[in-house]
Amino acid sequence: MLIRVTWRRAGLALGALLLGGVLFAWSGLFNIAASGGHWAVTEWALHWVMRNSVRTRALLVEAPPPLDSPALRARGAGHYASGCAPCHGAPGEPQNPIVQRSTPSPPDFSDSLDEWSSRQLFRIVQHGVRYTGMPGWIEPARRDEVWAMVALLEALPDMGPEEYRRLAYGEEAPRRARGAAAGMDGLSTPPPDLLADCARCHNRDGRGRDGAAFPVIAGQNEAYLLQALRAFAGGSRHSGIMQPPATRAGDAALQALAAHYAAQPRAPVRQTFDPALLAAGENIARQGLPESQVPACLSCHGGAALRRNPSWPRLEGQHAAYLEGQLALWRDGVRGGGPFANVMQTIGERLTPDQARAVSAWFAAGGGGEGGDRASHGEAREGLAPP
Ligand code: HEC
Ligand code: HEC
Ligand code: HEC
Repeated sequence: MLIRVTWRRAGLALGALLLGGVLFAWSGLFNIAASGGHWAVTEWALHWVMRNSVRTRALLVEAPPPLDSPALRARGAGHYASGCAPCHGAPGEPQNPIVQRSTPSPPDFSDSLDEWSSRQLFRIVQHGVRYTGMPGWIEPARRDEVWAMVALLEALPDMGPEEYRRLAYGEEAPRRARGAAAGMDGLSTPPPDLLADCARCHNRDGRGRDGAAFPVIAGQNEAYLLQALRAFAGGSRHSGIMQPPATRAGDAALQALAAHYAAQPRAPVRQTFDPALLAAGENIARQGLPESQVPACLSCHGGAALRRNPSWPRLEGQHAAYLEGQLALWRDGVRGGGPFANVMQTIGERLTPDQARAVSAWFAAGGGGEGGDRASHGEAREGLAPP
């Protein structure tokens, strides 16, 4: 007997299927337990969909910046140790057996990482993977931070445990138990020793490590440090790398940490610049740019101004790359900051990339330091080399 297909019958059949599906879901017979894992075919299908989505959407990602920079890798590794290794493991740090029981379980990067292009890794790290527990980046607009993580991921397969430990923990490496990264506590619990978390990246003396991987915070104004840390913790200053440590420390610890780092001697970083660039930068710092309504930087960042208002940051002796990076973030509207950051938002938008580079170089070379907003031309000052 032939059944003629009509719109009415097709509609009824579809309705019956939907109702059956709802009844099945309502009955509770479907097994959502993670313990059994997926069927092979489900796992294949889900991964196929994920790969296709990543491949297509990665086409819209910009060309990667140079990813072989040691500073970028160190910045990525510092965050990886507390933000990713608890799920994925790391060289010499076997994956936590608890996370191996999730479905899908996070791939174990302690020995291998699938082949993805830089842009595909960027896409995965920036947005995460829905239905899997793979989180997106805390501040997806911080593309510079996501690239730092990609730089680390690309280096990971060839990285030995010792190199990983140094990159992830800096001077704290000898104090860390082996295998600690696979502990789940890295995601939320502050370590018993307040400084231990910060010192992994900033060192105990606040000078940082691995070139310009981390800003110098030694000898920075205490009021500014506290304001910056509270801005990270409260989310008004946007950084996927700094928000977690500032949040897990808690406010009482932030006050103690601001006091500690403010009391460390400031040592300018060793950097060399082209004298013409410094001269252009000095001009902006002293005179501002009247034609684009940019005030003189020294009216707020010079020694005298800082004595009047210690919640403004000192810039002298900082890494030029960091200063320039912060100005670029304001230009893109993603820096944020403390209660007075709106002045810098306006100034950042008005500086061209060339102007930002010149003025950053001048401050980095020591301009605006103690002793009357002195300029330092030509030769960069000798400072302590990074350890
Ligand atoms: C809560 C656990 C968890 C955390 C934390 C986590 N991930 Fe994942 N990640 C996963 C899971 C689960 C998958 C598997 C996704 C899938 O099967 O499609 C995954 C997949 C990935 C992949 C794709 C790997 C592949 O070959 O399919 C990359 C790359 C990745 N994660 C990087 C990171 C980075 C970098 C971080 C830290 C910023 C991080 N993950 C933090 C759980 C996590
Ligand atoms: C995983 C590495 C890492 C850890 C851990 C870390 N920091 Fe940072 N810190 C950074 C990076 C990277 C930046 C630059 C953030 C940006 O570009 O927005 C930064 C920025 C800062 C700033 C702002 C500096 C400025 O001039 O505005 C302060 C203050 C700071 N960190 C203090 C701390 C303290 C205190 C801790 C411990 C609770 C800590 N950091 C833990 C990497 C780290
Ligand atoms: C009216 C006062 C004022 C003037 C003028 C000013 N700044 Fe700022 N600047 C600030 C304040 C306030 C902050 C702190 C913002 C925050 O993070 O809350 C800041 C922060 C910065 C930072 C980030 C420092 C760090 O450690 O993260 C840079 C870089 C900077 N200013 C550069 C400049 C430059 C370059 C000029 C001149 C073109 C300039 N500023 C002029 C008030 C000023």
